[in-house]
Amino acid sequence: MIRKVTEHDLFMIHQTEGQLFGPHDSMEAIKSAIIDRKDSLYFMDIDGKMRGYIGLHVNAPSADIATLFTVPAYRRKGVATALLTHAMNTLKSMNIEQVILEVSTTNHAAIHMYQKLGFTPMGTRKNYYPDGSDARVLMKELT
Ligand SMILES: CC(C)(COP(=O)(O)OP(=O)(O)OC[C@H]1O[C@@H](n2cnc3c(N)ncnc32)[C@H](O)[C@@H]1OP(=O)(O)O)[C@@H](O)C(=O)NCCC(=O)NCCS
Repeated sequence: MIRKVTEHDLFMIHQTEGQLFGPHDSMEAIKSAIIDRKDSLYFMDIDGKMRGYIGLHVNAPSADIATLFTVPAYRRKGVATALLTHAMNTLKSMNIEQVILEVSTTNHAAIHMYQKLGFTPMGTRKNYYPDGSDARVLMKELT
């Protein structure tokens, strides 16, 4: 089931991020990013647990995919594709015309997935990530 994150889910997000990435954002930081800034975060709930999530920042008439993640044990099962499809349908119903995202040029798995879903390259941002890798900017028209 894909559903929008609410304040009640903050503890689970915090816990999952802690398990996956070690010490991470505080509950307050997660709350301010998701709830207070009104960005949308949708997550894939399987057996009552968060198995993947997608974060959207809407700035009409376009929207950015700020984050997308599937927990390792659930990868290659279509979770990210389902989240992206859900996000794009939601944005389309809000009359958003295009979706933009950045992905590391070294992240072949994600680039492959976005290409499969019809995203096309717009350009490159040099040294975009902390490890010095470049970002490819990808875009998909929703209209
Ligand atoms: C990238 C990521 C979100 C994909 O999630 P997922 O739930 O496994 O993706 P899906 O199962 O929907 O896969 C969709 C397609 O993406 C491509 N893909 C996904 N993982 C891949 C891999 N490891 N190698 C090659 N292609 C891959 C495939 O084309 C796949 O379709 P297929 O399984 O029918 O061949 C996941 O690997 C992840 O969380 N990575 C770490 C975070 C990240 O890189 N996020 C994206 C930042 S922009």
